Parts: sequence; structure tokens; C-alpha cells
Amino acid sequence: MKKLKYCLYSVIAFIYVLSGCKQEQITIKNKPIDKSVSTNSLSSSGLYCTAQTEQTDYNIYKMCNDGTRIGDVMPYFDATSGKFYIYYLKDIWNDATNQRHPWYGATTNNFYSYSELSAGEMLSCSTQPCDQDFSVGTGSIVKNSGTYYGFYSGHNPNYPSSCVTKAEGIMLATSNSLNNKFNKNTSFTTIYPPTGLGFDETNNFRDPYVIYDNASGKYDMLIAARNNVNGTWKGVIAKYTSTNLLNWTYQGILYDGGTNNYFMMETPQIFQMGSYYYLIFSDINSKHVYYRKSNSINGPWSLPTGYDRFEGNSIYAAKSEVDNNGNRYIFGWTNVLTGNTDAGSWQWGGNLVAHKLSQDGNGDLIVSMPPLQKSYLEQLNLTMVKNSQWGAVTNTIPGTESYNLVSNVDNDIANVIYEPVTLARYKISAVVSYTSSNKDFGFMIGACDGFNDFYSLRFVPSQNKFRFDKVNHSLLTNTTIATNDVPLALNPNTNYNIDIVVENSMVVVYINNIIALSSRIYKASGTNWGIFVDHSNATFNYIGVKYP
Ligand SMILES: *[C@@H]1O[C@H](CO)[C@@H](O)[C@H](O)[C@H]1NC(C)=O
Ligand SMILES: *[C@@H]1O[C@H](CO)[C@@H](O)[C@H](O)[C@H]1NC(C)=O
Ligand SMILES: *[C@@H]1O[C@H](CO)[C@@H](O)[C@H](O)[C@H]1NC(C)=O
Ligand SMILES: *[C@@H]1O[C@H](CO)[C@@H](O)[C@H](O)[C@H]1NC(C)=O
Ligand SMILES: *[C@@H]1O[C@H](CO)[C@@H](O)[C@H](O)[C@H]1NC(C)=O
Ligand SMILES: *[C@@H]1O[C@H](CO)[C@@H](O)[C@H](O)[C@H]1NC(C)=O
Ligand SMILES: *[C@@H]1O[C@H](CO)[C@@H](O)[C@H](O)[C@H]1NC(C)=O
Ligand SMILES: *[C@@H]1O[C@H](CO)[C@@H](O)[C@H](O)[C@H]1NC(C)=O
Repeated sequence: MKKLKYCLYSVIAFIYVLSGCKQEQITIKNKPIDKSVSTNSLSSSGLYCTAQTEQTDYNIYKMCNDGTRIGDVMPYFDATSGKFYIYYLKDIWNDATNQRHPWYGATTNNFYSYSELSAGEMLSCSTQPCDQDFSVGTGSIVKNSGTYYGFYSGHNPNYPSSCVTKAEGIMLATSNSLNNKFNKNTSFTTIYPPTGLGFDETNNFRDPYVIYDNASGKYDMLIAARNNVNGTWKGVIAKYTSTNLLNWTYQGILYDGGTNNYFMMETPQIFQMGSYYYLIFSDINSKHVYYRKSNSINGPWSLPTGYDRFEGNSIYAAKSEVDNNGNRYIFGWTNVLTGNTDAGSWQWGGNLVAHKLSQDGNGDLIVSMPPLQKSYLEQLNLTMVKNSQWGAVTNTIPGTESYNLVSNVDNDIANVIYEPVTLARYKISAVVSYTSSNKDFGFMIGACDGFNDFYSLRFVPSQNKFRFDKVNHSLLTNTTIATNDVPLALNPNTNYNIDIVVENSMVVVYINNIIALSSRIYKASGTNWGIFVDHSNATFNYIGVKYP
């Protein structure tokens, strides 16, 4: 019905001539086999587009076995076991026992299966309402002489009160094994903001990151803080040094955001790769993870040659860690939405997401799918079933799902729609290129119809962005704010190798081993999906679905 109405408009506007205003029906129909799909209702266009109920079955994008979500991550590579230990804040703050997100942990050596640490809670919150660490926040782990030093944020939500005069301070717990609970060192002098130097002296002082600087022979500690820099309050990264991990001396502000003013640059980290040092931090407002480069661990920190981020707004509080073969990975979490619905709002906590982190020829950071995760996902080929197609669609490589799609005016969408994939986890891939684009092209997710009512993972060449948008396609304009996006230089006649990993409501896109875009999309699974172009000429070759 809606399609017909749209068609009439097109005809009246005398602009639609190509394929006779009828979504071509393909006779083979994929019968839904999955429980969540069989309870799914068909849209008036005969497509499945209802969100599946949120699942707890996550292998690739780890959450807790008990169904709880995870927050800020603290990765540590253990050369002895060859495993990454990923400590995280477990999202049990507002639970019945009011645990205020203590540390838990999991290990992996393959990025598709994780084992939770059997010791359970690795760092507890104090039960005393006046203690600085009545709740614990993010930190980092460093090893010295057989002891693991876990620096953490002591945060007291009872601030301000008669017994809590500072909301946050930096504290220490140690352990003799990565598998054992960290014991708090009550003799360690809690680090509070320096006084008389323009800092917010009672709040916003957290997220310690400790790194050994072999040039100076000292440990550096970065702390996210706020400072009045020449009359302007800014988020800053404060630096401390120590020779023994116990006595720390303030060394000034490592970075104040430069020409930007971030309210808080959370979970900062420095690491070295090749001849560069990188400073990464999470912007508390936009939720983007940004980075800066330097030739020195002490800065100055400058913008990269290209874009200063390689992901969207859903790999928050990301930190990286390197294995003993020099492969570096970045870990963060993709938030859930309230009520586990696509209409919900941002909520703290979610699923772990990890990418391989590398450098391009300019020394800028680029990301790709962890190789073992990729081979895990590429074990089996799914036979794809086409639902329908519409508009100027030409098969480009016989015997394969490869199509050139052309649309000559805005909102006159050409498409190919596939039947739902009824698997918990799978990967869609294609090689995408375009010759011209006035609007956009990309993938339809959860299509309720073929021309308007679908979510889009889309290439927008005029913006040099790859975006995730939820709004109806006809409502998208040049000023629409994306649900999520990542900058990517887009050029015609260039191949973009795209992988879209779906695990329940987690959707992670990789393009050309350069950028990633992690998003929460409840209606990604078990729904009709496809490819589209809008006022563009684009080709999608070798569209395929693989699964473990
Ligand atoms: C705890 O901190 C105190 C004071 O800095 C120090 O003397 C002691 O060695 C630390 N204990 C551990 C286990 O690191
Ligand atoms: C510090 O050690 C790392 C790894 O051991 C090495 O790659 C780096 O070159 C060293 N840096 C300096 C300044 O010695
Ligand atoms: C503050 O202002 C003074 C005088 O203009 C300048 O020398 C200094 O570099 C400024 N400090 C910062 C952190 O911008
Ligand atoms: C570290 O601090 C402790 C007590 O705060 C002091 O006794 C010790 O001398 C200090 N060590 C160094 C190396 O500064
Ligand atoms: C999957 O398809 C690819 C071609 O796209 C082929 O090379 C591979 O052997 C197939 N794998 C299986 C398990 O059939
Ligand atoms: C999206 O478009 C469909 C028709 O294509 C319409 O039924 C639906 O109400 C629209 N939704 C919004 C939020 O505009
Ligand atoms: C959007 O921007 C592109 C590129 O700047 C331009 O060609 C197009 O006309 C714009 N569309 C609208 C609706 O403004
Ligand atoms: C679209 O691009 C292809 C090249 O990929 C070209 O062969 C074709 O002629 C173009 N179609 C139109 C209508 O411009």
C-alpha cells in the first residue's frame, strides 16, 4: 500500500521510469526456523522487521555469564599463559546488594570465546560508607618483581558529606597472581588532586593508567582530571611519576585537549607502536574515543595526519594491550539501550568489543577484525535467499550475489532484499564500490519495507562518513545527526571490503582494515536485510553470509 503510494508520487513527478513500480517477487521463501523469528510478525510489506528479544548468548562480544553487562575494561596480556586478562567493572551497581561495580575479569586468546576468572570478584568495593573506595572505578595493572599492582579509582557516591570530602582518589591493590583477588594496600597514600594548581580539588580525578618508561627508568601515571587552564575549565590528563610504584610525584598536565575543550578525557592511555607514542582517551560527552600522536612519551601531542578517531560512539573507555608477538588490540564496551529496545536511551554497561589495532603508512591508527575471530566466523557459508528486488538492479558476476544498483533521483531507491538470517552470530561481507553518489548507498537492516522504513548502515560520500542511521530513509538529510558514525575518506571507483558481524543485538562493521563501527541494534537479528542505493550508482559484489 505504502509502496503504491510512493510509486504514484514518483510517476506524477515523472521521474520514475526504470522498472515499473513493482517490487519484483522472488518465489523461494525462507521459512523462519528460529523461535525469535517465528514469533516475529510480518510487516504490511510482507517483511520481518520486529526486534528480537534481547539474548544473553554472547561469545564474541562478551558479557557476564550471569547476564550482567560489563563496563570499563582493563586489559593485561600475560606472556606465561599467552592470554589476555580483561578486567572490567561489572555492572552491579543498582542491584539488590548494591555492589557499586567491582572488578571482575575474563581471559581470551582468540577473541571469540572468553573464560570468566573463577575467583569471581577481583577487587571489591568497601562496605564502609565513609571510605574513599565505597565504590571502585577503572584503573590499570602493571607487574613489578612478581607482584601485580592494580591502581584503581576510589569513588564515593556519598560525596559531599561530613565524612566524604573528596569524591575521587587514586588507590592501590596488589595480587601475586592475575587469577587471584587484588588485596587493597591500606598503607598506600591515596593520591588526590594537587592543591593550589587550578585543579578541581574535590571531584573528577580518576582512571589511573600506569606505564613503565624505560627511557627515564620511571613509571608514569596518567589521571583524568579537570583544571582551570588560564581561566577556562577543561578536562585534562595529569601526569605523575614514581620509581617504586608507591611514592608518586605530580609532574604537570600531560595534555589539556589543545584547541578542544573536553569536559573529561576519561580512561586515558599511552602506548608505543613503532616510532610513535599514542595517547588515547574517551570523550565523556560525545562518547568518541580520540587519539593523538607524538615522538615522545612526554608529548607534545598532535593530531594524526588523517581523522582522529577510527570508531564510533560505542566502544567506550577503550584501552589497548599488546601480545608477545607485537599484535596490539583495543578493547572497549558497546552500551545497551534502556529497556533493550531500539527506541531506548544510552545506558552505562554493555558488551565487550575488541579490534586489532595497527598503523597505516602515516603512523595513523587503523583497526581490523581480530584474525582468529575472522577465521572462526568464516567456517560455514549460509545459502542466502533473496526475498525481492526493486529498481535498476543488474547482476554483475553470474552465479554470485553481486549486483550493480542505480538510482537517479533522491528517494528513488533500488534494492535487493534478503530473507532473515536466523543465527545467533554471523558475518555479512561484500566488496562495495561506486561510480557516483549524490545521496547514499549501503545496507538495509530490519527492513519493514524496501524504500523507506529501515535502519541503514550507509556510505555517505558527501560527508566522508560511514554511518548508522535509524530514521526512515526519506527523512535523512545532510544535517541529520547520525545514531553512530565513523569518518572514512570515500572515493569513487575504489573497493570497500566490508564485513558486518552480527551477534544478537551487537553489530560491528569493519571496512578495508581501516575503520570499525560498533553499534547496538536490537532489530538486526532475524529480520529482512539487504542492499540499497539512493541517487547513486554502486556495486555490491560477492555478498555473502558466513557463520561459525
Ligand atoms: C603497601 O604500601 C606501603 C606504603 O607505600 C608499602 O610500604 C608496602 O610495601 C605496600 N605493600 C605492597 C604489598 O605493595
Ligand atoms: C623500551 O622498551 C621497549 C620494549 O622492551 C622497546 O621497544 C623500546 O624501544 C624501549 N624504548 C627505549 C627508549 O629504550
Ligand atoms: C596561560 O597563559 C600564559 C600567558 O598568556 C601562557 O604563557 C601559558 O602558556 C598559558 N598556559 C596554558 C596551559 O595555556
Ligand atoms: C616513600 O614514602 C615513604 C612514606 O610515605 C617514605 O618512608 C619513603 O622514604 C619514600 N620512598 C621514596 C623512594 O621516596
Ligand atoms: C564457502 O564459500 C567459499 C567461496 O565463497 C569457498 O571457497 C569455501 O570453500 C566455502 N566453504 C565451505 C565450508 O563450503
Ligand atoms: C517510517 O515510514 C513508514 C512507512 O514507510 C511509516 O509507516 C512509519 O510511521 C514511519 N516512521 C516514522 C518514525 O516516521
Ligand atoms: C547534500 O549535500 C550534497 C553534497 O554537498 C549535495 O549534492 C546535495 O544537494 C545536498 N542535499 C540536500 C538535500 O541538501
Ligand atoms: C553505473 O556504473 C557502472 C559501473 O560500475 C556503469 O557500467 C553503468 O553504466 C552505470 N550506470 C548508469 C546508469 O550510470
